Amino acid sequence: MASRRNFLTRFSKGMGGIMLPVFLKTPQGQQLLKASKTTKDVTADEDFWRFIQQAYTISPNLLDLNNGGLSPQPRVVQEALDHYNRMCSETPSYNMWRILDKGREPLREQLAKLGACSKEEIAINRNASEALETVVFGLQLKKGDEVVLSEYDYPNIKNAWLQREQRDGIVLKWIDLKLPSEDKEALTKAYTNAFSRRTKAVLITHMTNWSGQILPVRKIAQVARVRGIEVIVDGAQTFAQIKFKIPDLECDYFGTSLHKWLGAPIGSGMLYVKKEKIANLYPLFAAPDAKVDDIRKFEHLGTRSFPIEQAIGQAIHFHEMIGIERKEKRLRYLNDYWINQIKHLPNIKIHTPSNPAFYCALILLEVVGKKLNQLYLFLHKKNIHVTVTNIKNLQGIRISPNVYTTTQDLDRLVQGLEEFCKAE
Ligand SMILES: Cc1ncc(COP(=O)(O)O)c(C=O)c1O
Repeated sequence: MASRRNFLTRFSKGMGGIMLPVFLKTPQGQQLLKASKTTKDVTADEDFWRFIQQAYTISPNLLDLNNGGLSPQPRVVQEALDHYNRMCSETPSYNMWRILDKGREPLREQLAKLGACSKEEIAINRNASEALETVVFGLQLKKGDEVVLSEYDYPNIKNAWLQREQRDGIVLKWIDLKLPSEDKEALTKAYTNAFSRRTKAVLITHMTNWSGQILPVRKIAQVARVRGIEVIVDGAQTFAQIKFKIPDLECDYFGTSLHKWLGAPIGSGMLYVKKEKIANLYPLFAAPDAKVDDIRKFEHLGTRSFPIEQAIGQAIHFHEMIGIERKEKRLRYLNDYWINQIKHLPNIKIHTPSNPAFYCALILLEVVGKKLNQLYLFLHKKNIHVTVTNIKNLQGIRISPNVYTTTQDLDRLVQGLEEFCKAE
């Protein structure tokens, strides 16, 4: 609560000296600040979440239920981005390298606080792909070394490993995950049974983008650690969506986007490398000393968008104003809200677990016997935006609401699904 109470103060101080965002001076902004200070359980308090909705500039027409793809930025983040952009356009090299560059260390500290790790373990970059490919290409592996991964991992990261297989002759061991699953033992075994004397690394996607399934990362990591296997976690979908501390995952590397659940500007990401692993991991962009154990060696990108980077700070403040516990509970509540109303409909199949330990904001729904595109287009015509999953045995439309989604919005989805099922 202390962090939420300090929200206004910290906004006004802000990194880079930004003034209190214009939005927060408006009556809506003031109401939002007042509402955010409540200590009540607001999970089902639609008034509270309407204030949150007012802090965004979302389309009143198209209902966006693909937040697992990208999250819109709250208005305060957009304002900060505009502000820093204008600053850079005044005197770019001075304002970027002499002023905004100084904001990276406080930002690193704030991101580390969110991940509950040391700031010496956090590098700021442009997306989850960049963070994770830094690890894939930076690990010192030789011909014959094995890496364990799943077909449900994200395509960019799988492709990075495939490229290493082609170039360096490493061996990829693809495991056969049976999803959905609420069986921690079986999920863990699917990975650990593939470990051999030659296994050097394992990639685990904390929450799969295809169906929202959460995997028991820590249990798999514990087995890997005993066997000296490096653990890489793709946390693109979980960071700032569900509550956890990165060190509790017991992984060596963790990569995430910040433009998904944190609501930071598009093109922002973060890499965590456990302190003792930094020295041996090569950076993707060469640094003066590739073997130094300084996390900043992963930030030698050359000129990049300083406004995007600095406006991450406002996204963190906004996220803390809501609070991760409130956010996580609300996201599950929203999904339960629509699922409970449609689950009795004929041929409905949910490919996401219903045990809270295994799901949160992303749900995969199939109407058995219907072509995937039929349902997608039906909803699209009703101005409801979702995305389609079609991989192995997971087929359907993926639905992912966000903190600005209200139950009234979801009534539109329920109505659409009812009409679709009745129409055929
Ligand atoms: C599980 C997962 N990993 C990685 C990524 C890639 O994220 P980015 O586009 O930020 O590189 C995504 C994006 O959807 C994802 O869902």
